[in-house]
Amino acid sequence: MLLFKQVLPFQKHISKLKKEGKKIGFVPTMGALHQGHVSLIRQSLKDTDCTVSSIFVNPTQFNDPSDLQKYPRTPEKDLAELLNTGNQVLFMPDVTEVYPPSKKLKLDLDFGYLDQPMEGAHRPGHFAGVAQVVKRLIEIVKPHYLYMGQKDFQQFTIIQHMLNELKSPVKLIVCPIIRESDGLAMSSRNVLLTPQQRSLAPAIHQALQDAKMKIHAQFPRQIEAEALSQLSAQGLQPEYFSIVEGRTLRPVELFEETDFAVACTAVKIGNVRLIDNMILKEE
Ligand code: PAF
Repeated sequence: MLLFKQVLPFQKHISKLKKEGKKIGFVPTMGALHQGHVSLIRQSLKDTDCTVSSIFVNPTQFNDPSDLQKYPRTPEKDLAELLNTGNQVLFMPDVTEVYPPSKKLKLDLDFGYLDQPMEGAHRPGHFAGVAQVVKRLIEIVKPHYLYMGQKDFQQFTIIQHMLNELKSPVKLIVCPIIRESDGLAMSSRNVLLTPQQRSLAPAIHQALQDAKMKIHAQFPRQIEAEALSQLSAQGLQPEYFSIVEGRTLRPVELFEETDFAVACTAVKIGNVRLIDNMILKEE
């Protein structure tokens, strides 16, 4: 595996590969890699000639400085995981490479309603930071394919919107959520849970599954209310449990009125904030 920390030599290498006709797949990450990331890399390895991953904990997407500070960082373990998976190129820049003072990198993109609800409401400025860094990274890498996980449903929806608005040739591939055997969605933040908190965490997936079971019998708002009570009763602190239309992220009023309904939730267990989602209906 080749490791680059600086933009110029990295770009030189990628443009050489592209001149040779190689298809490039890109997996952006913030490190603390888990099997969810590995699944993205594996998909890229299947689809492309060269898989490039990046590890960059992007400060601009953290609205809470203490969240940035405690974000897990496991560089040695990550390198071993990448080598083991067969990732070919790693880009691991520092902040000044990604955000050189000379470059105007502020994004003036309007996400319409997409960044308003859910994560957008609870983490002000988060998606502006995510879009800024993904735009910058794909400008550097210029991949053919970009791989993201379904776990961050609102994130990939916004990134797809950005790619459309920028008329970018990059094709976004969204890969399924990877779960632990008890249903907990894989996340870099899971390592922050104490054993007692970890034992509560499968309740999130359970609430999503229970919601799915109810779609033929109840209205979305009722299901949301019950999911919130269920999570609270189990000792978790849900921030939201929202049943939304999968393309617009607007609340679903009646399941019959949409062919694509998704339940998205954010839950705090102690100080650890986890998100998850489940497609309830897709035709
Ligand atoms: O999903 C993440 O890990 C991050 O938001 C991303 C896409 C790598 C941007 O920093």
